[in-house]
Amino acid sequence: MKKIIIAIDGYSSCGKSTLAKSLASHLGYTYIDSGAMYRAVTLFLLEHSIKVEDQDRVQTALKDINIRFADNNHTLLNGRDVESEIRQMSVSNYVSEVAAVPEVRRAMVSQQQQMGEERGIVMDGRDIGTVVFPKAELKIFLTADPEIRARRRYDELAQKGQEATLEAVKANLTHRDHIDSTREDSPLRQAADAVIIDNTLLNREEQLDRAIFLARQAG
Ligand code: C5P
Repeated sequence: MKKIIIAIDGYSSCGKSTLAKSLASHLGYTYIDSGAMYRAVTLFLLEHSIKVEDQDRVQTALKDINIRFADNNHTLLNGRDVESEIRQMSVSNYVSEVAAVPEVRRAMVSQQQQMGEERGIVMDGRDIGTVVFPKAELKIFLTADPEIRARRRYDELAQKGQEATLEAVKANLTHRDHIDSTREDSPLRQAADAVIIDNTLLNREEQLDRAIFLARQAG
């Protein structure tokens, strides 16, 4: 089977990264969490008290930001493991504002495209099938019931010992989905040639089986 590019897009907390990670591992592919990159930029801006409105400082900051992934998929910001910090609500509450800045997107998209040059990659995000890899051999658009998504994200945060109420998680998902789908630059859209998987009633194995089947067809 030839190595292909697999794009997985969808709304916040649909389980994209869980599916993408297990699919990549099954196929022996590289997994790239594009959302983690926007989260790392957001963490950097928050740590340096840089607001998105301050375009000059954002531009300068982008030159000082180096994002890499460790072998265990942890996100490294200028060499520092920030995997846990980028999942905190302080970052979640600001990331969509940061990700709507065209300069930020341009910098991230260019890095993401470089990561895909060797193919054999599963990347999840919001604009992977539409902007980053419009020619990806397989595009999956993942959806799930909003209540279920909020509950899943809440449980995930609770498991990690991060404090947040279910209401706050729900409000954050609604806020991010709204900004992500209405921004001018690369809004979240289902690519015309994407296959929809609604995982509201599917368990992880069922989703993975479906994705493996689609990958085999596409490869
Ligand atoms: O995937 P995750 O929920 O961690 O992404 C965090 C945020 O990063 C999203 O809400 C969205 O604003 C932004 N994002 C994006 N484009 C991507 C991936 C994520 O704008 N490809």
